[in-house]
Amino acid sequence: MSTIYIPFNISILKTLKDALEFDVYVRLGKEKFLLLMRKGSRIDQERLDLYISKGITCLYIDNNSKDVFTAVFKEKAVFEEVPDKSAEVENLEKKIEEIGSENIKEIEEKTEALTERCINDLFYGVEINTEHIRNTTRLVKNYMSLLVLAPKNISELLNSIDENHYFHYHSVSVSITSIFLSRILSPDNERIQSITGMGGFLHDIGKAGSGEHDLNPVLKPKIISTEAYVKHPERGLKLLSSVENVPEEVKIIVYQHHERPDGTGFPNSLFNVKLYYPSRVVAVANAISKMVAKHPFGKEMKPKDAISELLASKGAFDSKVLQALAKVYNIR
Ligand SMILES: [Fe+2]
Ligand SMILES: [Fe+2]
Repeated sequence: MSTIYIPFNISILKTLKDALEFDVYVRLGKEKFLLLMRKGSRIDQERLDLYISKGITCLYIDNNSKDVFTAVFKEKAVFEEVPDKSAEVENLEKKIEEIGSENIKEIEEKTEALTERCINDLFYGVEINTEHIRNTTRLVKNYMSLLVLAPKNISELLNSIDENHYFHYHSVSVSITSIFLSRILSPDNERIQSITGMGGFLHDIGKAGSGEHDLNPVLKPKIISTEAYVKHPERGLKLLSSVENVPEEVKIIVYQHHERPDGTGFPNSLFNVKLYYPSRVVAVANAISKMVAKHPFGKEMKPKDAISELLASKGAFDSKVLQALAKVYNIR
């Protein structure tokens, strides 16, 4: 049976202070609905105003959320189709994309600030090429822009774009480290560097909306359920399958970033040769970024200590990638 969607006036969301307790959809066509805001995320008032200024007056919940919606808004909860003032529904898809483009500048600024902060956390006390930093910043910013221009299915990511958000911080941090490592390992292959950086940026997209990040506006991740954790590579792959402009290799990285060369990883316990090389780079970048982040699960480690720990975990990470990382920090 197909889902039934119930309309409500967008302006009621302006009164909501807490996180959403239901998914919110926008209608793009007669039978076509796009998930705009996910349950668990907070309302971004500025983006809400932008939707309203574009003439979007009516949003939808699915039939199953009717009771919880009524409980949240009480007597204010009125279900009625509010006619779209400016144009016919077909144009809404274009409008959503326009909103994405209008957000790019703000997103770029936040990403740039985050990039510097991540570089400081990751490479504190290490001499690195400033040209590398500039190029890295440019690449990471490009990924953000690319995603914003393809907002279908990635509303979760949009909702997390905030310099104080662990999800955004971690994405930028893993991307930077992946690009750095890739430049050392494949100095003449710009395409691979870019693919690896983008894979690093998107590696955990399958966790978006799972609850790990949504309710944590401060740099502090919450532990998600084991089931959601185990499924996030597959969910990420699925989420990206319909996003244009994301190369196939990037999807492979997202799917494989928790595989381990010794076969102890997931979801497929892939052994050595079956593992795409950039996936191994992102796996190392993911591990180190998590260990040195200023507010990760527990207290942060010094990069040198974190690398020594990774070097000691024989077989779990690619040795060539680990050596490249150790070289950056002058560890022998
Ligand atoms: Fe992950
Ligand atoms: Fe991660």
